[in-house]
Amino acid sequence: MGQTRLYLTAARDDAEAIFKLLDARFDDEGLPISIFEADEERGLFEVSLYAEDDIEAVAARMRETLSALGNPPDLTIEPVPDIDWVSHSLAGLKPVRVGRFLVHGGHDRQLRRPGDIAIEIEAGLAFGTGHHGTTAGCLKAIARVLQSEAPRQALDLGAGSAVLAIAIARAARIPVLATDIDPIAVRVAWQNVRLNGVERLVDTQTAPGFHHRIFAERRPFELIVANILARPLMGLAPDMARHLAPGGSLILSGILERQRRAVVAAYNGQGFRHIRTDAREGWVTIHMKR
Ligand SMILES: C[S@@+](CC[C@H](N)C(=O)[O-])C[C@H]1O[C@@H](n2cnc3c(N)ncnc32)[C@H](O)[C@@H]1O
Repeated sequence: MGQTRLYLTAARDDAEAIFKLLDARFDDEGLPISIFEADEERGLFEVSLYAEDDIEAVAARMRETLSALGNPPDLTIEPVPDIDWVSHSLAGLKPVRVGRFLVHGGHDRQLRRPGDIAIEIEAGLAFGTGHHGTTAGCLKAIARVLQSEAPRQALDLGAGSAVLAIAIARAARIPVLATDIDPIAVRVAWQNVRLNGVERLVDTQTAPGFHHRIFAERRPFELIVANILARPLMGLAPDMARHLAPGGSLILSGILERQRRAVVAAYNGQGFRHIRTDAREGWVTIHMKR
C-alpha cells in the first residue's frame, strides 16, 4: 500500500504550533511529520504527516490533538503519487558514463576503460540503471563528495537496483546499507551487489523510510543518499537529521525543480545547510550538510 499525506496549511506561527502538537502526539508511533514553507508570497506553511495504514483513524487522532488549538485549519488527505519505477528502469539499456562511473549491462563489459569504476546492473524489476536524471545526478554528487570527504559508513535509502550503494562501495571501499520499501527491489539490489562483488561491503534490507531496527544499530552515517520523491523526502527530514553524523553529507534526488525550495526549507528546519543543487532533465539533486 502507498503512502498518504495528511496536511494542514497555516501561517508560520500557527503551523509551528501545529507541528509541535503533532510531533509530541505521534512521536511514539513513528509517523513522519514535516513542516515547510509552501507559499513564500503568502507566508503559508504546510504541516504534513505521512501514514500508510488506518488513514481515517490517524486523521481522527490528528483532529482530536489539534482541537486543543480551538479553531484549527482543515485537514487535507491525499495519496502520495506512485511513480512506475519498473517502466523507468526498462528504459535503461545503454551504458551511462557519469564522471569515473560507468553503469552498464552485462553485454557492455567490453566498454570498461582503465580507471573506470564500472557498475554492472541487470535492469530487473527495480529502478536505477543510471539513465534517469536523478540517478545520474546522484552519481555525480557522490563522486564530488568523495573527492573531499572520507565517510566511514553510508546509507542508500530507496536503493532500487542498488546502483548508488554499489557506486559508493566501489569508489570508497566503505560499508553501505542499501534499503528499499519494495521487497522486489531489495531482491534485485542483492543480485546486483553480488554481481559487482561488493557483498562484503553492501547490506540490503527491506524497510519503509527509517522503520527498521537496523538503522539504530548502524547509525550514524557520514553519507546518506536518497533518491525518492520530494514529498516523502520532506517527511523523512527529522529522521535524516537523527541518522546523519554531524559534518556528514546528504544527497537528495527525485525532486522536480519547482519542489526544490520546499525540500531545502524542510531540511533547513532540521539543521541542514544547502551546499549545491544540480539540475538534469527537469530534476534536481541537492547536496546538504549538517
Ligand atoms: C527513483 S528510485 C531510486 C533508485 C536508485 N537509488 C537510483 O538512484 O537509481 C526510488 C526507490 O525508492 C523506493 N522508495 C520509495 N519510497 C520509499 C520509502 N519511503 N522508503 C524506502 N524506499 C522507498 C522505491 O521503491 C524505489 O525503488
